[in-house]
This record gives sequence, structure tokens and C-alpha cells, in this order.
Amino acid sequence: RKRIGILTSGGDCGGLNAVTRAVVRRARDYDMEVFGIKDATVGLMARPVEAELLDVKRVSGILRYGGTILGTVNKGNPFAFPMPDGSLADRSAEVIEGYHRLGLDALIGVGGDGSLAILRKLALQGNWNFVGVPKTIDNDVGATEYSVGFNTALSVAVEALDQLTYTAISHSRVMVMEVMGRDAGHIAISAGIAGGAHVILIPEIPYTLENVCKKIIDRKERGNNFSIVVVAEAVKTESGAPITYTNSLGQCLYGGIGQYIGNEIALRTGIETRVMILGHLQRGGTPSPLDRLLGAAFGVAAVDLIARGQFDCMVAWQNRRVVAVPLAEAVAQYRGVEVDGALVATAIGLNTYVGELDP
Ligand code: F6P
Repeated sequence: RKRIGILTSGGDCGGLNAVTRAVVRRARDYDMEVFGIKDATVGLMARPVEAELLDVKRVSGILRYGGTILGTVNKGNPFAFPMPDGSLADRSAEVIEGYHRLGLDALIGVGGDGSLAILRKLALQGNWNFVGVPKTIDNDVGATEYSVGFNTALSVAVEALDQLTYTAISHSRVMVMEVMGRDAGHIAISAGIAGGAHVILIPEIPYTLENVCKKIIDRKERGNNFSIVVVAEAVKTESGAPITYTNSLGQCLYGGIGQYIGNEIALRTGIETRVMILGHLQRGGTPSPLDRLLGAAFGVAAVDLIARGQFDCMVAWQNRRVVAVPLAEAVAQYRGVEVDGALVATAIGLNTYVGELDP
């Protein structure tokens, strides 16, 4: 029997368990055994290798759970692995050997662009048969229109905006909500439109605080007692400085630009303003139906690729189809928000301030 492995790597998100479940169910059709590897490449580094044989019973019902039953790590690059003494060590050889110790014929890695690039490097060096599945709330993986997890994060963000709007109206306030997205503004632009925001700031488009405030004051003058502002985490200050919060141990914690924008709005407009950082809520929760669908489609397609002997590729969603794209192509094409695309045009059409675009 063929033995295949599956691991989830990088930040968790909605829909990961739908991928795992689909892989196990599809593998049964080919009489393949599936090993769920614990905590991404850390499980392959462990001795004995930490992996669990997954059968259909084990994955029954998991598609509605948040997170990943396999566990994951976000800062575990085996080429620069953080050691207890604070140093970084190259432990890639141990990870590569872990695959062979498990006797795998192929591996499915579910990850974002960073994880997929690392897994590809391991696969090439270690002679692994590898298939990638794109997942990330940031939706920034190249060559696919959607990655698993984005839609769940979007749903959480829109629900939060709906709730913030009531309190904003009740108190005649400006509410600023900072969302995740790493270097891209996909969650911000989509949630901002769907949640009815009046200002949406994304890293792909520059802005001026003067025009952010003008928008809010114009609304007040027209009799609107509240405004909703959505800010993507990678937006910089008006002068271009990044804002990060670092603690006394030098660890960079999440969140910050929302406070800056909110404070500037409060000072410049005199309108009472409150800030909320949505943070890791976007990663968890019940996976949305669309993420379950995408996860299922990708899981089935990944096993089909293995059965056909097609490796070094990633499953992708393009034009309502699941296709296989070369992994090298996918990891090389970072995908931010298209400034001339439909979403930015829609926001402008709704008279939302999205920054300073060329006329
Ligand atoms: O890539 C997913 C993501 O949630 C980003 O949106 C965010 O910047 C980052 O991970 C947070 O990472 P961590 O969970 O390690 O704080």
C-alpha cells in the first residue's frame, strides 16, 4: 500500500480539517494509508517521528472544527530552527530523514507562501514527492484566487464590523478596526466593503490622514453621526514608518497601526474614537461553508495528483476549477490586492475612501 503524509504548517485557519478529512476519504479510494504528521515539520524532526495513522473514522465530523487536529507551528523553519538557547540551527537534514523513516511515498503540505517555499526546498533536497495546498487567512498565495481560511476570516471580520456599527451609532463615534492580512489588504478590502466601512486603508494604496479625516467630517456634516474605518495590519504611518509592538524580550507582538490611525482621527476631528484590534479571532472559529468546500476540493485534488504521480505542484482555484500549478510558480508570485481590480473599484463606487489613487 502507498503511504502518504499530510501536515499543516504556519498560522492555523478555518478549513484545515476539511482538507485533512478529504485527503483521508479520497486516499481510501486508492487504498493509500494516510499519516497525519504532528506540528508540521517539527513532527518530522522528532524521534520517533510524531505521526498518527488517520482513518475515515478518526476524521469523521472534523470538518466543522476550527484549527487543525494535526497541530501546526508558525516559527519553525527547519533551515533556521529556533533553539532553546536562542540560536538558530539548520535542522533540515533531520526533517528530510523523518519523511524517509516514515516510509512515505508522498507528502501533502498545507501552508501559506512561506511554508510552501520551505517545504519545496526540503522536497527538492530530500527527494520527496510533494504536493502543496494553499491556506492562509491573508489570501496572498500566488496562482490561486482563493486560499483555505480566507473566507472564514472574512466572515469573522464582517460580523465584527456589523456589531461595531451598532455601538458606533449608539455613541456617535468613529470605530476603527484593525484586521490581519500580513503584507496584503485582502481581508481589509473585502470586509470593509461587505461590512459597509466608510474608510478602508490597505498597504497597497497610500493614504493621507487629511483625507481620512475629511471623509469622516464630511459624513458628520451630512448628518451621519458615526463612521467605520478598517485598517489592514501592514498599513504604515503617513510618513511610511511601520508600526509594531515589541515587548521587553524583543518579541514582536501583533497589532498597532489601528491605534495610530484612531488616535490621529480623534486628535484631528475632535470626534470620539475607539479602536479594536480583531487579531487572532480571525483565525479560529467555525470554518465557513466556503472554506469547507475549498478545503474538500483541494484535499481530493491533492490525492488525485499523487495517484497520477504528479509532484512539485500546488492545487489552486482558478476560474471555478481546481487546477495543478507548478509549485515554483506559485511561491514566486506573491499576490496583493489588485489596485486596478474589481474590489477597489467597488469601494470607490460606494464612495468609500480607499486612499490616494491616480486619477
Ligand atoms: O499569516 C497569517 C497571520 O495570521 C497574519 O495575518 C498575521 O500577521 C500573523 O499570521 C500572526 O502570526 P502569529 O499567530 O504568529 O502571531
